[in-house]
Amino acid sequence: MTTAKTGKLIVGNWKMNGLREDAAKRAQAIGEAAQAEGREAFDIVLCPPATLLSEVRAAAGKAVALGAQDCHHKDFGAYTGNISALMLKDAGCSYVILGHSERRQLQGETSEQVAAKAHAALNAGLVAIICVGETDAERTAGQQNDVVAAQLEASLPEGANKDNTVIAYEPVWAIGTGKTASAEDVRAMHAHIREIAGVGMRILYGGSVKAANAAEILHTENVDGVLVGGASLIAEDFLAIARAS
Ligand code: PGA
Repeated sequence: MTTAKTGKLIVGNWKMNGLREDAAKRAQAIGEAAQAEGREAFDIVLCPPATLLSEVRAAAGKAVALGAQDCHHKDFGAYTGNISALMLKDAGCSYVILGHSERRQLQGETSEQVAAKAHAALNAGLVAIICVGETDAERTAGQQNDVVAAQLEASLPEGANKDNTVIAYEPVWAIGTGKTASAEDVRAMHAHIREIAGVGMRILYGGSVKAANAAEILHTENVDGVLVGGASLIAEDFLAIARAS
């Protein structure tokens, strides 16, 4: 099967999962398939925990790009426990996920902090994948468009453009829950984001993406790729999603 150059971006967010041996095997399997199937366009991105970046870099090979899950807004300094965008670039990353809802909710990260981190990421030469999305209560109240617009407005850094920034729409209620937004909900929200972000900026969907629903999501208007959590932890599942593009 050939899956080359669909232009869709397939991002695996491993979250806080993986130890060296498993990670290397998974990354190698994904890298080899990507290479064999002509994915030199770098449309697969693996975002392991920081401890596994070099392992994954070495095992995945050149057909796969490397990303991180967060960065600090400063380049260096007395910030115990943090990692800068410059360091991620130095470790071989070309992408960094920022403002994931788990960080917004569990670490209290604000959109302003996300924008500062994104600014550092762009300065370091990384592509920022900026996550936005409404909660269940906000959708029930019909506020999803306003919530996402406000998050975007405050999270996108100055100088964000289609080459250095990717937006990931991840409804909070769909993350890790097995509930996926309907194709119509995805279409409507991506059209809304497209109006704000402009032509050309890639907009990913994330939230319980799996092999069974990937094709429908990936072929929805204004969906330029997917951000995959749980299903990215099994090489064959992740590859099946990539092949659905
Ligand atoms: P999920 O996570 O695919 O497990 O729902 C997506 C994400 O959090 O990026």
